Amino acid sequence: MIRSLIVGSGSALPKRAVPNAELARQVDTSDEWIVERTGIRNRHIAGEGETTASLAAEAATKALEAAGIAASDIGLIVLATATPDQTFPATATKVQDLIGARGGIAFDVAAVCSGFLYALATADSMLRAGMAKRALVIGAETFSRILDWEDRTTCVLFGDGAGAIVLEAREVADEGFAGPGVLYSQLHADGAHNELLYVDGGPSTTGTVGKLRMKGKEVFRHAVTNLADVLRAVLAETGLSPHDVDWVVPHQANARILDATARKLGLPAEKVIVTVDRHANTSAASVPLAFDVGVRDGRIKPGDLVVFEAMGGGFTWGASVVRM
Ligand code: UT7
Repeated sequence: MIRSLIVGSGSALPKRAVPNAELARQVDTSDEWIVERTGIRNRHIAGEGETTASLAAEAATKALEAAGIAASDIGLIVLATATPDQTFPATATKVQDLIGARGGIAFDVAAVCSGFLYALATADSMLRAGMAKRALVIGAETFSRILDWEDRTTCVLFGDGAGAIVLEAREVADEGFAGPGVLYSQLHADGAHNELLYVDGGPSTTGTVGKLRMKGKEVFRHAVTNLADVLRAVLAETGLSPHDVDWVVPHQANARILDATARKLGLPAEKVIVTVDRHANTSAASVPLAFDVGVRDGRIKPGDLVVFEAMGGGFTWGASVVRM
């Protein structure tokens, strides 16, 4: 059978790091409030010349280096973002040009914070269908450019960055869920909650880019419920127990969401890769960024069972079970 294997990862952050104390000089907030309510201590903010495409291309280049694969061998680029460089063309095509990949398929996926999960499941399906042999799956964002920097309830929560993985289609023995690769993904959407997390502009409505608006408390409640449900579902479908999981790589929105979700599933906190303290919420970039941190610091190793999960605007949410 054909499975999509993760053969490399990379990530990129803007040069400028912004600690909570710096934000406390701009809006009525404090390091204490931000740390206590979110776990965030720092975020990176894109400067001049740093864009979603440039960060994505840097992350993709590092992922290709880690995989030992040339850009010319990539037949598919799926890039998840809610902050594209331009309304069109797709940022994926810009990345394709920046990294020197020619030909093949390149497009963006818009599922906000769940974007990487949507992109991963899409790329995996296309690889298994034989549409390409190797894919770059990227989550990249510059949320700093859609934040209302006078709204303390949102501007302290987000950061910029990018993460990328290389997926390769390989013929593997049919060992069910014991083998390597992307084993199972589940995606969900519920458009009834648009007004809880959205951007108040767009090309077809206001003709402007707009700013992010969020009713945080309500989003928090939905996030914990939806994430616990989808994690339980992917484990049930694959016949795995929380005990079998080596690492959970969650969307990094709030340390309290990570704790509450892990507790609901009986997963020890030590199995959760946490980067929200240093990166804040980087939307579609947060899962691949955290994954790359876990791989490069030696925690995530070959053979490990990794579960990705995310929830975001739409609402959209999902989870994937992957054996390294
Ligand atoms: O990535 C997509 C998914 N997004 C999320 O998952 C985000 C989910 N939501 C959250 O993470 C949390 O709800 C927040 C971090 C956004 C807010 O935490 P909270 O514990 O739910 O606080 P709250 O909204 O209930 O606000 C508590 C108080 C309020 O003051 P009053 O009304 O009690 O006087 C806020 O005005 O904290 C105030 N507050 C702040 N104070 C200092 C809100 N933001 C700030 C701030 N600094 N930055």
